[in-house]
Amino acid sequence: MKILGIESSCDETAASVVENGRLVLSHVVVSQIDIHKHYGGVVPEIAARSHIEVINPVVQEALERAGCSWDDIDAIAVTYAPGLVGSLLVGTLAARTLAILHDKPLYPIHHVEAHVYANFVVEQDLGRGTSRTGKGESRESLERELDSTPSKTASRRESYDSRVADVSSRVEPSSPLVYEGSRYETFEVARGEAGAISEGTSATRVSAAAYATETRSEAVPDGIEATSLPTFRLPTHQPAFPMLALIVSGGHSQLVLFRDHGDYELLGQTQDDAVGEAFDKVAKILGLPYPGGPSIAEAAKKGDAKRYKLPKARMPGRYDFSFSGLKTAVLRAVQHEVGKDFTFPSHELPGLVDDEMRHNFAASFQRVAVETLVDKAIAAYREFGPASVVIAGGVAANLELRRQLADRLPIPIEYAPIQFCTDNATMVATLGYYRAQKLEPADPYTVEVVPSLSMTKSKWAITK
Ligand code: KG4
Ligand code: ZN
Repeated sequence: MKILGIESSCDETAASVVENGRLVLSHVVVSQIDIHKHYGGVVPEIAARSHIEVINPVVQEALERAGCSWDDIDAIAVTYAPGLVGSLLVGTLAARTLAILHDKPLYPIHHVEAHVYANFVVEQDLGRGTSRTGKGESRESLERELDSTPSKTASRRESYDSRVADVSSRVEPSSPLVYEGSRYETFEVARGEAGAISEGTSATRVSAAAYATETRSEAVPDGIEATSLPTFRLPTHQPAFPMLALIVSGGHSQLVLFRDHGDYELLGQTQDDAVGEAFDKVAKILGLPYPGGPSIAEAAKKGDAKRYKLPKARMPGRYDFSFSGLKTAVLRAVQHEVGKDFTFPSHELPGLVDDEMRHNFAASFQRVAVETLVDKAIAAYREFGPASVVIAGGVAANLELRRQLADRLPIPIEYAPIQFCTDNATMVATLGYYRAQKLEPADPYTVEVVPSLSMTKSKWAITK
């Protein structure tokens, strides 16, 4: 079963095709980061407009790169909640329209639940619509070999990774398929390749116009290929149930225990800011660029994580989090360090912070934020003894989080490649498959977006 996934809940427009909830055939993401970074955060109106500009070309690109016509697609899955209302509307309306037009079943997907399903993608065939002869064989023989020895030791994993790279390079040098980076990067390359696009033309227009006139092969694909990745480093197997999921993104921080697909329990969640939001806000205080997560992680590499003592919140709920106090503690400590009191405007603070202080604060904040998450995850592991522990959401890209969990958990921590941790449609299409096994599709004429919806409210009322 091949599912087309569509994601537009925040500032990434994405479409992917995934087969049987485990094999990614295409993965296209157009990020708006370069637009929003000028404002230090996502501007909802600009986000919605930018989604409209690229949604059709992005869907088309995902189909083409998967080598699929509409006849090959069995269903459409789309993020309908939660997120920015204007952003959600674009993807949802596109999906509804396509479902009606091509007569496909439509599965509305909860974005936070989808983040967890990034961990279920374990195979790739990014063959850009070319014949699969040779490539399929290579992958299948690799798979067979792995199936016969499913152990997950570090050396096994390493040798798998190196063989994946080997398979892809033997297959087809131009096969990879990721719109990495921003539209502006894409534009830079596209302009270089096509030569005829004037200064000031937006990348969006380039691709939209190219699609409209069917001359896209001149401008867009070459440029995209030049910025794409060779392959994803995928896990060797899907996580086992019961599965403990630590979901950490810009909008969510929660611990969820999955007994099976669709059968899960929320153990705890943040009572104020999400952890990604705290990374973004602390980055602003320190004068580091948006999005704060990656820039804090980078700055932290050069800092002393023990230099500043920052508080860990104590919460009444055993598995609840709080990050607002930590963020304020950083603000006060920075003010103290530069000799200004709390009346000093916080937007002027970064100008007074030197690099050494910035690196030390980034490292000290990251250590405490990550420890807070890991303390609770370990406590939940001890109480529930799950068969697997996965991390999901944008903050799951954080290497310090992965390192601390790996150090403290008695079983290996499982996570998806970074490209599947931040917002994307592969996770949406993957979850779509499991929902389609147990649930009836939605009526494309009536699906509504829900900007604010807890994952537990989207729980499956199983109908099959
Ligand atoms: O899942 P995501 O792409 O979007 C939401 O659904 O929110 O997550 C975005 C969040 C941002 O707050 C970003 O700062 C954070 O994930 N993030 C990171 C890292 N990469 C992205 N946080 C910490 N370390 C990272 N390496
Ligand atoms: Zn997300």
